[in-house]
Amino acid sequence: MSMMMSPLISSVHFPPISEVKRWVAERPDDGKQLIDLCQAVPDYAPAPELTEHLSRLLSDPLMSKYSPDEGLPEVREAVCSYYGRKYGAQLSPDNFCLTIGASQAFWLAIVSLCRAGDEIVVQAPYYFDHPMALDILGIHGVYAPFSEADGGLPNPATIESLISDRTRAILVVSPSNPTGAITPADTIRVLLDIARRHNIALILDETYNEFIPGCLRPHELFSDPAWGDHFVQIASFGKTYALTGYRAGMLVASDTFIHHALKAQDTMAVCQPRITQQAVKFGVENLDEWVKTNREMMCRRHDLFRSEFMAPGNRFRLAASGGFFAWVQHPFENCSGRQAAKRLLDKAAILCLPGEVFGPGLERYLRLAFGNIREEAIPEAVQRFREMGV
Ligand SMILES: Cc1ncc(COP(=O)(O)O)c(C=O)c1O
Repeated sequence: MSMMMSPLISSVHFPPISEVKRWVAERPDDGKQLIDLCQAVPDYAPAPELTEHLSRLLSDPLMSKYSPDEGLPEVREAVCSYYGRKYGAQLSPDNFCLTIGASQAFWLAIVSLCRAGDEIVVQAPYYFDHPMALDILGIHGVYAPFSEADGGLPNPATIESLISDRTRAILVVSPSNPTGAITPADTIRVLLDIARRHNIALILDETYNEFIPGCLRPHELFSDPAWGDHFVQIASFGKTYALTGYRAGMLVASDTFIHHALKAQDTMAVCQPRITQQAVKFGVENLDEWVKTNREMMCRRHDLFRSEFMAPGNRFRLAASGGFFAWVQHPFENCSGRQAAKRLLDKAAILCLPGEVFGPGLERYLRLAFGNIREEAIPEAVQRFREMGV
């Protein structure tokens, strides 16, 4: 191809999940069944009552039409009540914009906050799509380093020390992808106070918020009457209701912030598909028990994974873990995460992601999305790690 591409996009690496899935296609068949720990996708189907409900709605001619950019009022009303239950929040439908996954909500947040050349302080290890988006837009990610001693949690003092005149936001993911670590509510509060002191935003990506053990409230920020002045939340229903392909995300912010974000929404997506909006409405109105059952199942998977992985005789070391994810150190000397992941695929038919896609200097780590595999498959998966020679 000879036409000129934007150097901003040319220099961004190819999407990591697509990269490692290509390795699978190239792998000779040795009869060993692949254990796929690469992508965070619930392995179970959506609730049958949800899919039955949607199939009935499909014949409604309205279902194929645009909706208002921010989403249907009745859906945002239903989400408001859910936020009342989950966060003790008294929000208004004007605080919500339904989006094409949390991914698009993130784009709305950053294009509303930043111009090219601005900075965002990002906690590492980060969700790789975030710096990819920042790089494409010419926004500089300034990375708060991963510290094993801090359990992969954000250290507010470190984050504050990275704020400059160009900083427009602090970005944290909790529960974390890739470590699974849950940032305590008190720390989230301190991060909002820092954002407030510097008159910047705290962007909190809570894609995995329904997988916090015991359904503890993730934070109390929405109870602060001034929350909307500095807080922007990225939410996803994709993992919650096992609807990742429906692209069910949401931006939550002050009504003024949403007002501006809708200008970008109109040019990017116009609206979340109506059928997805109906799925969200059905979910928040009917599926609390279904979500609880799956949360408990994920907790059992996590407990089992930890105990199997940490039993003596495993040269891979668990550095952090939580719902869906384990963040492990591989034992191979002079070997990048990519090389280690490739070796695991070639020798053990395990697919996982290399640490370096989650931040600079993280080549010694791998991310395992054990939320992808059933409880009964976990011992076999861990056994394959144990059997890997160094
Ligand atoms: C932290 C985080 N944010 C956002 C997303 C994207 O979510 P969605 O599928 O709703 O766009 C993911 C997906 O894995 C994620 O891990």
